[in-house]
Amino acid sequence: MTDTAKARLIDGKAFAEGLCARTAKKVAALVARKGVRPGLAVVLVGEDPASQVYVRNKGKQTVEAGMDSFEHRLPAETKQDELLALVERLNRDEGVHGILVQLPLPKHIDADTVLLAIDPAKDVDGFHVVNVGRLSTGAGEALVPCTPLGCLMLLKDTLGDLAGKRAVIVGRSNIVGKPMAQLLIAESCTVTVAHSKTRDLPEECRRADILVAAVGRPRMIKGDWIKPGATVIDVGINRIEEGGKQKLVGDVDFDQAVKVAGAITPVPGGVGPMTIACLLANTLTAACRKAGIDPESL
Ligand SMILES: NC(=O)c1ccc[n+]([C@@H]2O[C@H](COP(=O)([O-])OP(=O)(O)OC[C@H]3O[C@@H](n4cnc5c(N)ncnc54)[C@H](OP(=O)(O)O)[C@@H]3O)[C@@H](O)[C@H]2O)c1
Repeated sequence: MTDTAKARLIDGKAFAEGLCARTAKKVAALVARKGVRPGLAVVLVGEDPASQVYVRNKGKQTVEAGMDSFEHRLPAETKQDELLALVERLNRDEGVHGILVQLPLPKHIDADTVLLAIDPAKDVDGFHVVNVGRLSTGAGEALVPCTPLGCLMLLKDTLGDLAGKRAVIVGRSNIVGKPMAQLLIAESCTVTVAHSKTRDLPEECRRADILVAAVGRPRMIKGDWIKPGATVIDVGINRIEEGGKQKLVGDVDFDQAVKVAGAITPVPGGVGPMTIACLLANTLTAACRKAGIDPESL
């Protein structure tokens, strides 16, 4: 590629809108056929401003998809036992098919204990060890974490069959990096997971046909770390100040990468919108499984 070459932009916003529209249609069909309206309960503890925005958006889009939205806003000083009691109630509630406890939780609450208390069949975030185990072994029907699921959808839409491709994921979090690795292994990619102790990260990245960046460091991945023609998925959402203005940037130096990559997700408008779209899709999946119906048949 020459210096003026431009990667194809992967339009996550448009893809997410299409996915939400398909989900809404299926929700209407599920209501018509089985009399079941999927319900998503979102629990927010405390007043973290970013979390409040996420929860508001989730509620709005849930209703737009024709689902029931239940918001539970609890004060920051809520005791762990009180939160666990609410999760228990939601586990038993027939109208609730998906439960999401917004992270991060206040420091006095152990997030692992709370996530483990969620019924795996309602765990639409896919963080419960049962779902993690199902995803990694392929046994049973997992609910898959929303952000990596969204990345996979964008990759398949861009590249078609992923078998045999060399994928490098930078980041090994439970939320993004590890489930992304499992999804790409299941697609028969050859997967490398890099992290803060990786030696010669640029060289590892240069081997990738598919490069997924989930680090949380603004513009860390440079243009010359990217193999010409590679597909780059930038999960990073970093708020920076530049030229006196607040800006959202990814983990990839977009202006450099766009000259080298074959296709790339922008930030914003790439992976970001896919997360809520996949959350709604997961809630529909959970409701369909409960009703004994294949979501593909709707
Ligand atoms: N909806 C969305 O689009 C969405 C959803 C979730 C997250 N995000 C964004 O994605 C990014 C990652 O999120 P996360 O939750 O996965 O973050 P995280 O839990 O902080 O994990 C970051 C990972 O990056 C690795 N890392 C840190 N510095 C590195 C370096 N210099 N070189 C190589 N690896 C390095 C860490 O390695 P170690 O394990 O060795 O520490 C860790 O595995 C953040 O910007 C977040 O805002 C976006």
